[in-house]
Parts: sequence; C-alpha cells; structure tokens
Amino acid sequence: MSGTGVIVCKAAVAYAAGQPLVVEDIQVEPPRAGEVRVKLVACALCHTDAYTLSGSDPEGLFPSILGHEGGGIVESVGEGVTSVVPGDHVIPLYTPECKDCMFCKSPKTNLCVKIRSTQGKGLMPDETTRYKNMKGEPLFHFMGCSCFSQYIVCAEISVAKINPKADLSIACLLGCGVTTGIGAALNTAGVEQGSSCAVFGLGAVGLAVIYGCKMAGAKKIFAVDINPAKFEIAKKFGATDCINPKDYPDKPIQQVITGLSESGFGIDYTFEAIGRVETMRSALECAHRGWGKSVIIGVAGSGQEISTRPFQLVTGRQWLGTAFGGYKSRSSVPQLVDQYMEGKIPLEDFVTDRMKLEDINKAFEKLHEGSCLRCVIDM
Ligand code: APR
Ligand code: ZN
Repeated sequence: MSGTGVIVCKAAVAYAAGQPLVVEDIQVEPPRAGEVRVKLVACALCHTDAYTLSGSDPEGLFPSILGHEGGGIVESVGEGVTSVVPGDHVIPLYTPECKDCMFCKSPKTNLCVKIRSTQGKGLMPDETTRYKNMKGEPLFHFMGCSCFSQYIVCAEISVAKINPKADLSIACLLGCGVTTGIGAALNTAGVEQGSSCAVFGLGAVGLAVIYGCKMAGAKKIFAVDINPAKFEIAKKFGATDCINPKDYPDKPIQQVITGLSESGFGIDYTFEAIGRVETMRSALECAHRGWGKSVIIGVAGSGQEISTRPFQLVTGRQWLGTAFGGYKSRSSVPQLVDQYMEGKIPLEDFVTDRMKLEDINKAFEKLHEGSCLRCVIDM
C-alpha cells in the first residue's frame, strides 16, 4: 500500500544554529520505495539534539527537523516495503539495520552502513528530502529520524516494529539514551555477576548504565557526578556508592576510585557518560589493572582528542566505545520494549518532564537543568 498525497502537519523547524525552533505547518511527502511514513505519538529530547541546535556540531545542517528519540504508528508505506504495514507501532532508529551489509552480517558490530552517507547529509537514500515548509523550501532530515514532526518519513530499515500495547510516549526512550546505557553495560562491557563498576555522569544515559550493571548482577556500582542531587536517583537505579569528585580537590578522581576498589587495583568495568575527554581518561585509569574495561559513551565536542599513558593499556586495561549500546537495532529494540512491558526496565523513572510540541523550546531549557532526565514531547 503506497502512501498517497502530501500531509500538512505541525513540526518544530530548526532554521539556524543557536536560534529557537519554529513550530509551524510543514509538508511531508508520501514515502517512496523502501520508505515508511509514520505518525509520531511522542518524542523525547536528547543532548545530541541540543548539541546540533547549538551550532557546535560541524556536521549540523539547517534548516532541518531535529529529534531522534520517538515513537509512532505507520501511516503508509512505499513500494517494496515488507517488514511493516500501516497501523504498526514503531520506534525510529538512527542506527538502522539492513541485515544485508557486511556490518549487519557480522556479529561483532551494530553499525549498519547501508544508508550512512545520505543520512549524514540529511537526505533520504535517494538523495532527496521529504520535508518542505509552506513556502516550498526543502528541510533536511536529521539522523534518519527527524522526530520533532507530527509525521516523518524514514527508511524501512530505520524503524523497529514493537508491541502495539506499549505506551509509545514511554517506549520512545528506547530509541536512544536508555538503550545506549543498558547496552554499554550488557553488550559492550559484558558486565559479569559479582563484578565492580563505576559510572561517570548520572544523566539518563549514566543511570541506564547503572541499571544495566545491576541487571548483569554487579556487586559494587560506583556512581560519579559533580552534582550530588543525582545521588538519590542513582541509588534507586542500583548504585551502591556515590562519589562527588568535588569532595576530593587534592586528588585525581581515578586515584580516589582505585583506592576505594576492593582489590586496590581498580574497577572491573568503568563507563563515561558525560562527553568530556578528561573524565574519559579518569574512567580508563581507574579500570582494573590486568583486565579492566572502560567504555566511552558520551559524545565529546568536535575536534577533541583523548589521551592517556600507553602504559595504562600495556598493563591490561581496554579502552572501548559504544554506539546505541552495541544493539542491532531492528532486532533488539522490540525485545527491549517487551522487557519494559514485563517490568524489567523502569522506563517511566527516566521521564521527569512532559510538554506539548508548541512548548519545545522550553523543553530545551529544561534539558539543561540538572533535575531533568528526559522531557517527553506529546505530539
Ligand atoms: N564529573 C562528573 N560528572 C559530571 C562532570 C564531571 N566533570 N561534568 C558533568 N557531569 C555530570 C552532570 O552533572 C550530569 O549529571 O554528567 C551528567 C551528564 O548528564 P546529562 O547532561 O543529563 O547527559 P545524558 O543525557 O545522560 O548524556 C550523556 O551521552 O549520549 C551522550 O551526548 C550525550 O555526551 C552526552 C552523554
Ligand atoms: Zn546493514
């Protein structure tokens, strides 16, 4: 069933870096071959949206429609689409899964390359856009998702079909931050029963890492943040010890944490969920001598570089990174939604704020307040 006709709907358009979004009517073209058009129900804000909007992202494109943590219902499908039909509930995916490229066929990675180049250019795989404003000016796609719109067009390989009974305004969180955090612990680090973990940064991503470590049966989970207001919720998600680096002005935090470790040689698994190269180094250097693994999750500012003494790696520490928690997206997101439905992932606890699309600029302000984990926009 091919989509018919242009849909006029509300969207929040990013016209220029550093400017507020403009909530206005836009035109959404029908899906072409291999594409689906989705009626969005809800979308959460993530720091990557704010980063691109700020203009700090050198690859940011304007005008565009940002947003990549959404949930919706398939409205129509283009020619040749077989994996979803209108009415299916889906989560858009910025990491697609074509199941055909060399990366998808490898069990070692989740980084599908099928539509990577056009996605990076803000375009659909045929190098065109499906969005226009009412003046007829084209608008770029963002991360293959563009969830700040009531209707979106994605590649078929960029949507995961999920249990229709799941509340899309909560399940949407599995489109980015929570999945990334849980997967960093379970897939990338491979946290084991009885192990010790340290998580730097207690935003939604870091808290999801803590929860993932708990799911894996970690015995000790150190939660590290310069904002002690985060410690209560970190404990709720499973942290056993909370550390504020500001309480140790005379000592590098990696030394403090190594000193607190059971063996005195460091922590089995450490994670950086802030996006600062200094804390990435700290996380590596408090990983356990001989076998510690340290996972970079946070996205550092453009052009920044990490450093440490090679001796840190020679003595057995491993420095790893993760994107989307290592999950193969279309295969795994439906399972994570089912786990949420079974009460195994407390997604509701990440939703601290809710707003209407008209108020999306206020939601960006909220995101910068320490108390906000995720703000969900009801479309
Ligand atoms: N040491 C310890 N904690 C810090 C430091 C520091 N030097 N600087 C900031 N933090 C804490 C903040 O107080 C905050 O609680 O890190 C946390 C970061 O949380 P959020 O800003 O809410 O970020 P989150 O949404 O969890 O994303 C974290 O992952 O996906 C990426 O781009 C995203 O880089 C970001 C990271
Ligand atoms: Zn692929």
